[in-house]
Amino acid sequence: METQESYPLDVESIRADFPVLERKVGGDPTVAGEGDGDDVPLVYLDNAATSQTPKRVVEAIVDYYYEYNANVHRGIHHLSQEASVAYEEAHDRVADFVGASGGREEVVFTNNTTEAENLVARSWGLNELGPEDSIVLTEMEHHASLVTWQQVGKKTGAEVRYIRTEEDGTLDMDHAADLIDETTEMVSVVHVSNTLGTVNPVAELADLAHEQDAYIFVDAAQSVPNRSVDVEAMDADFLAFSGHKMCGPTGIGALYGKRAILEELEPFNYGGGHVRKVTYEDATWEDLPWKFEAGTPNISGGIALAEAVDYLEDIGMDRIQRHEELLTEYAYDRLSEFDDIEIYGPPGDQRGGLVSFNLDGVHSHDLSSILSDQGIAIRAGDHCTQPLHDKLGIPASTRASFYLYNTREEVDALVEGVDEARELFA
Ligand SMILES: Cc1ncc(COP(=O)(O)O)c(C=O)c1O
Repeated sequence: METQESYPLDVESIRADFPVLERKVGGDPTVAGEGDGDDVPLVYLDNAATSQTPKRVVEAIVDYYYEYNANVHRGIHHLSQEASVAYEEAHDRVADFVGASGGREEVVFTNNTTEAENLVARSWGLNELGPEDSIVLTEMEHHASLVTWQQVGKKTGAEVRYIRTEEDGTLDMDHAADLIDETTEMVSVVHVSNTLGTVNPVAELADLAHEQDAYIFVDAAQSVPNRSVDVEAMDADFLAFSGHKMCGPTGIGALYGKRAILEELEPFNYGGGHVRKVTYEDATWEDLPWKFEAGTPNISGGIALAEAVDYLEDIGMDRIQRHEELLTEYAYDRLSEFDDIEIYGPPGDQRGGLVSFNLDGVHSHDLSSILSDQGIAIRAGDHCTQPLHDKLGIPASTRASFYLYNTREEVDALVEGVDEARELFA
């Protein structure tokens, strides 16, 4: 069991960076006139869905709009050049953050993880796959990966296979070794499961994929925000994540791809801004990564994502990871004290920063609503892993997820909230 002393972050000063954490909440915002009851302090434990945004990231957006709002890549004028430099350098910053030594050429800005999956699925999958091929996923994929590759399978005839999840929430690696064979062209795996918290052995899976000359796509939506990720150490061919889960804004995410592979891929969207020469008959493409960024990109979002990366790195990814591990273990231990609570996934000291569970006899939506009355924000539902919930034999679960600004006291508030729900439904 962890100790209070071992928490590595100065959470009080970190919390001061996030004005929203000062909020009080109350009432029902979905009913006109009822959402303004400022009753109870916010306890924000829904970070796996979206994290909060520190002031300096918001200020980076404001600064862009107040000081140098202009379109990128094309302008000769001063503002456009300032915006272009900031936007382009943001790619380098993000590349560096995930250990991509090729810099900006290996990082495409997308809307989010989902769009990054779709980019590869369409640019590569639809063009390269056929009925003789297989795509290997895990049973714990988020719909962003699962639905995308499933649909590619349907369109191309490629077989979609799923690596089994064991009872304890880990992957059956013998099954992985069986499934990934000479027919396999793509292995798409979630790094940290957003439902089970499992940390998957992506480097090992990359080896299995590469032994068969297949690519590996790592869904890092729940790992890049919370731990140090090195695309080259894990030998990922592609890796994707979303800004809004890592202190950045919504509407911006990134796809890392090995340069040699991205060079070969077709653009995913067509239009202006990513072309070099256009005639009435054909078009040629800009250099990486702009080839994949057709149209006006989310300029302020890209710049703010780089600011978020700076913010996280200033605090230290290893310390953020440790802080979350301690909170998660504490939450796991406290929730495990109750016989009527079932927790899904690996033990508390072997998971990413989240705990999904169910309280006997109480639907997760009801539990979430009771917790919300106490200011506690958690997520209820299938967390975009419906097939995994089907496999677990449950319609939904309740998920608490932690980040750098959460405290033990907030975990205590969660446990007390669950107690209250238990009494209400007794
Ligand atoms: C593991 C995982 N993959 C993909 C996604 C999709 O992210 P986005 O909605 O930002 O595209 C999420 C979001 O919850 C996730 O947790």
